[in-house]
Amino acid sequence: MVARFTAQELLHSDLLINGEWVGGSQAQRFPVTNPSTGEVITQVASASQADVHTAIAAAQAALPAWSGLTAVERSRILRKWFDLIVENVDSLAEILTLEQGKPLEEARGEILYGANFIEWFAEEVKRLYGETIPTNVSSRRLLTIRQPIGVTAAITPWNFPMAMIARKAGPAIAAGCPMIVKPAAETPLSALAIGRLALEAGVHPGVLQVITGPASVIGPELTASPAIRALSFTGSTEVGKKLMSDCAHTVKKVAMELGGNAPVIVFDDADIEIAVSGTIDSKFRNSGQTCVCANRIFVQAGIHDRFVEALSTAVAKLNVGDGFSRDVQQGPLINLEAVEKVESHISDAVSRGAKVVVGGNRHSIGGTFFEPTLITSATMDMTIASEETFGPVAPIFIFETEEEGLEMANSTPFGLAGYFFTQDLARMWRVSEKLEVGVVGVNTGLISYEGAPFGGVKESGVGREGSLHGIEEFLEMKYICIGAVN
Ligand code: SIN
Repeated sequence: MVARFTAQELLHSDLLINGEWVGGSQAQRFPVTNPSTGEVITQVASASQADVHTAIAAAQAALPAWSGLTAVERSRILRKWFDLIVENVDSLAEILTLEQGKPLEEARGEILYGANFIEWFAEEVKRLYGETIPTNVSSRRLLTIRQPIGVTAAITPWNFPMAMIARKAGPAIAAGCPMIVKPAAETPLSALAIGRLALEAGVHPGVLQVITGPASVIGPELTASPAIRALSFTGSTEVGKKLMSDCAHTVKKVAMELGGNAPVIVFDDADIEIAVSGTIDSKFRNSGQTCVCANRIFVQAGIHDRFVEALSTAVAKLNVGDGFSRDVQQGPLINLEAVEKVESHISDAVSRGAKVVVGGNRHSIGGTFFEPTLITSATMDMTIASEETFGPVAPIFIFETEEEGLEMANSTPFGLAGYFFTQDLARMWRVSEKLEVGVVGVNTGLISYEGAPFGGVKESGVGREGSLHGIEEFLEMKYICIGAVN
């Protein structure tokens, strides 16, 4: 298939409200920069409170007709949206690399990963069955139906500027719910581009709206509005807690994909090659900037030295550079603040006895590029043990027994993803059950798939995205009791 748009044609910088591109009532704009070069790509419209109100009103107006379509009709439109995204994967990947920095091939992977959520929910919506319930009174019949919750909103992060929108908007729109998306200020261009393709596909005006600008203006309007019945957020635990509390005033349904502090446990009986490649996949994907990135690597004493040697060879080989350059595995970090956090975690660890085995510094190419880093002799009193680094630093902790490894892995308020490497089948079951996380990877560092439920336990969030469960965040179950049937 031939792409119908070039990246330039998909580059929008205005708000997408009610199917129109509007500059925003304040006419203020903010710069979006390429993190690889520091250059300003474009100035994007900054929504005012009035713009948010306009978008909410448009979503309310769009709700009856959109939710009134049959599931099959909505499914066909979503399928067309999926097709358009896939046809334009190259342009969308360019936009994503431009604003986020990740290597072009990884950006392509993200676009297809995101598109798959839209395809998945285009299918799943046809199977939103209700149920009949055996009655308790002979003259009554009891049943349930599932209905769209109403107008919804999503606040999405910069680390996956496209996929995190698709996995919220896909199920919401499939279920019949208009969604207002507020993308991260660092990466609004991918959101606007897929908004454009949704319109092209026939998603009704007002059903997918993209409002860009400061979280401090947009967030409170979305959380305070009684018209918005569900909020889906991906981001930090700190912000998630605030949003949950703000949503309590109007008793909204919330889906929160929050911070992680993912453990990797390498047991003595692991296959070293699989453990190293799985750890690299989990730790260095997106330059270490994912919520499911390995943050703490616990290695059993008997395999420690061999594992560290093999991992350090693999880390030293990672190629860092501009995402548009060939053969690059790691792009820049999103901004200087991210670099400073990585530096502070390394210097705190070193001051408490850790050893830097590979990397440890800002990369010689400058900007926000950072060397892929491996440190050993990490201990549980270090900041890196309790805080998510969100950068390319792999700290190795040592443990003796399975119980000790599990205890160290679980000693965190977070519980998103956890990984472990072993060849013992009984241990696979045992440790999977005991890890306090929502997602477990056994002998793999890559767990994401649209057909599987993604979400955390403890302070890593509530709700699930993807799979047959992800659409539940946007549905209400209604019980109907029909009397006097005899
Ligand atoms: C995330 O980092 O929040 C998402 C990662 C994924 O979907 O694989």
